[in-house]
Amino acid sequence: MLMLKEHFRANDMGHLVVGKLDAVDLAKTFGTPLYVMDEQRIREKYRNFHRAFSSLWRNLLVCYALKANSNLAIVKILQNEGSGADVSSENELRIALGAGISGKRIVFNGNYKTRRELELAIANDVLINVDNFQELEAVDRIASHMDKRARVGFRVNPDVRAPTHPYIATGLRESKFGFDVASGQALKAYERAAKMKDVEVVGIHAHIGSQILDAAPYEEEAEKLMALVAEVKEKLDISISHVDLGGGIGIPYKPGEKELQPEMVAERVVSVVRRFVKEHGLEEPVLVFEPGRYLVADAGILLARVGYIKERLGMPTWISVDAGMNALIRPALYGAYHHIELANKLDQKNDVVVNVAGPLCESGDFLGKGRKLPRAEQGDLAVIFDVGAYGIVMSSQHTAQPRPAMVLVNGDKAEIIRRRETFEDLTRLDRVPGWLE
Ligand code: LLP
Repeated sequence: MLMLKEHFRANDMGHLVVGKLDAVDLAKTFGTPLYVMDEQRIREKYRNFHRAFSSLWRNLLVCYALKANSNLAIVKILQNEGSGADVSSENELRIALGAGISGKRIVFNGNYKTRRELELAIANDVLINVDNFQELEAVDRIASHMDKRARVGFRVNPDVRAPTHPYIATGLRESKFGFDVASGQALKAYERAAKMKDVEVVGIHAHIGSQILDAAPYEEEAEKLMALVAEVKEKLDISISHVDLGGGIGIPYKPGEKELQPEMVAERVVSVVRRFVKEHGLEEPVLVFEPGRYLVADAGILLARVGYIKERLGMPTWISVDAGMNALIRPALYGAYHHIELANKLDQKNDVVVNVAGPLCESGDFLGKGRKLPRAEQGDLAVIFDVGAYGIVMSSQHTAQPRPAMVLVNGDKAEIIRRRETFEDLTRLDRVPGWLE
């Protein structure tokens, strides 16, 4: 049986509808491969997330993780909803500031921040989540040159196991991120910062991983962070005002997979924070979250044209579409599942077992294997779901494929928010040295 998420439906021609628009028409108007983002869905997800926490805790800062999708229009929608930003590079920081998000509502994360990045962050009062001792020295030095005080938190490594793909699990001790809590390194960071003149210690930060569908690891994370907040207060008399639990709330990619409601996370995290505040006489901190995927993933689809169909005796039929790992690398990179349907045949039975291939010359270039679809024909329109996060931002120009266009749908309106790359875009940066002319 066809199972579409609540913000999609099929019309009476059996076509997929996004907002109020027929996906078949969108593909005709804008061409394929095409990313389509649903504005109303993003707004709805942001409001859900915000409400889940704000109904339990007063001081809340939701910082959209731009790495999921840093398109200017998408960031603008979230700014418009009142979101802050989590950025991890100079350009993400510039995009967030450019969208009108004030530096005070931006957190800057990462294990390699350049001098330029730190300068821009300090100049805009961005909260810098410092990853290591050398970075702390650099921040202090740069701030003092600039005659400013830098707002600083520490990325700590709480050693929390989160059930997800190993590439996107970040909270374990062996991971590259943050100050180790268990050995006392994190406490030492606060000690050192307390002696620095141009550093204002405001925060603690961790991010335990991505695509997490279980609330328990967040509770464990909150326990470990709050224990450190209490210790820092007791031993160093520093009040940490911003407790940042990072992002990572996942979405169901497979039909039937269970959703993790933000309410579940909010309840468990807030009750831990409340208990620590009470038992240790702490000030009520601002709770910071950095959701990326949860806000934008299921608002996005990728439309791809079916070109060729190849039958194989005793094996799944191969269907080639015009989007591959160049447009969406998640299946090739993580073995990620993205649901696929034929957007023009939603009223037909999915009774043929197929592999869906992209147009590139490697075997890893597939979008799905062993899937059931209706009998496909040339010219059909495949739709790949849940690509609004880590889709276009991780796309490439492999085999000189231009990156797809992206369209924003709002009800019955649709507009290009990223134009399709052209031959000129692909070659613009290349130079042929004189001796080869
Ligand atoms: N905060 C920090 C410090 C992060 O490193 C990340 C993601 C986030 C927030 C947002 O996490 P989210 O809420 O989106 O799970 N490319 C991978 C995901 C990598 C996530 C890296 N960090 C994928 O396609 O699944």
